[in-house]
Amino acid sequence: MKKMLIGSIVLTTVLAAIAYAVVPSADAPTPAQVAAARGKYLVTAMGCADCHTPMKLGPNGPEPDLARSFSGHPSELVMPPAPKLPPGPWMATVAATMTAWSGPWGTSFTANLTPDPETGLGKWTADDFVATLKTGRHMGRGREILPPMPIPAVKNLSEEDMRAMFAYLQSVPAVKNLVPDPLPPADAR
Ligand code: HEC
Repeated sequence: MKKMLIGSIVLTTVLAAIAYAVVPSADAPTPAQVAAARGKYLVTAMGCADCHTPMKLGPNGPEPDLARSFSGHPSELVMPPAPKLPPGPWMATVAATMTAWSGPWGTSFTANLTPDPETGLGKWTADDFVATLKTGRHMGRGREILPPMPIPAVKNLSEEDMRAMFAYLQSVPAVKNLVPDPLPPADAR
């Protein structure tokens, strides 16, 4: 009797162990979800939203406009020409949204990183994203990406981390927002 009981306990334990090993639990994250979670951690810690999510004036002062997360410089905010700075150590100016920047490189507008296919990164592949961050050129083959996009810093990320960041950015809500092209430096106009 005692032998049978021990036998059945052993059998149950063995069966449970096999079930645990071969049947994935219903809520175990997929590799894609694991990558997106790592990407979210990296994108958050690296402050990508600081420039790519427009700031708005809230009840307690400036705050990120979360309805436009990662959508870049708002298309309806047409900026007047950037002020010409007097000679001296001041070098750059920035819009209150933190999405338009002017300096010796001209005026640059932060890109739409949401998965909108027409105005964001919806048609990009992970390879396009990796090539952009590694080379500092649009999709790795287009024009050079201007300051203050921190290419000198982000190009040091591992390819795996870049892919994780892309997976996360492709998972945020798409926002249709056409960002203007950069303007040349005032002196060259
Ligand atoms: C200090 C501001 C700033 C920060 C922080 C920043 N960016 Fe940018 N980013 C820009 C600006 C400005 C542009 C547009 C430059 C241009 O038009 O040449 C840009 C462009 C890009 C582009 C190129 C889009 C294209 O169409 O070629 C990608 C991709 C990008 N940023 C991703 C990121 C990611 C990912 C992070 C976080 C690691 C990040 N950015 C952080 C300012 C910033």
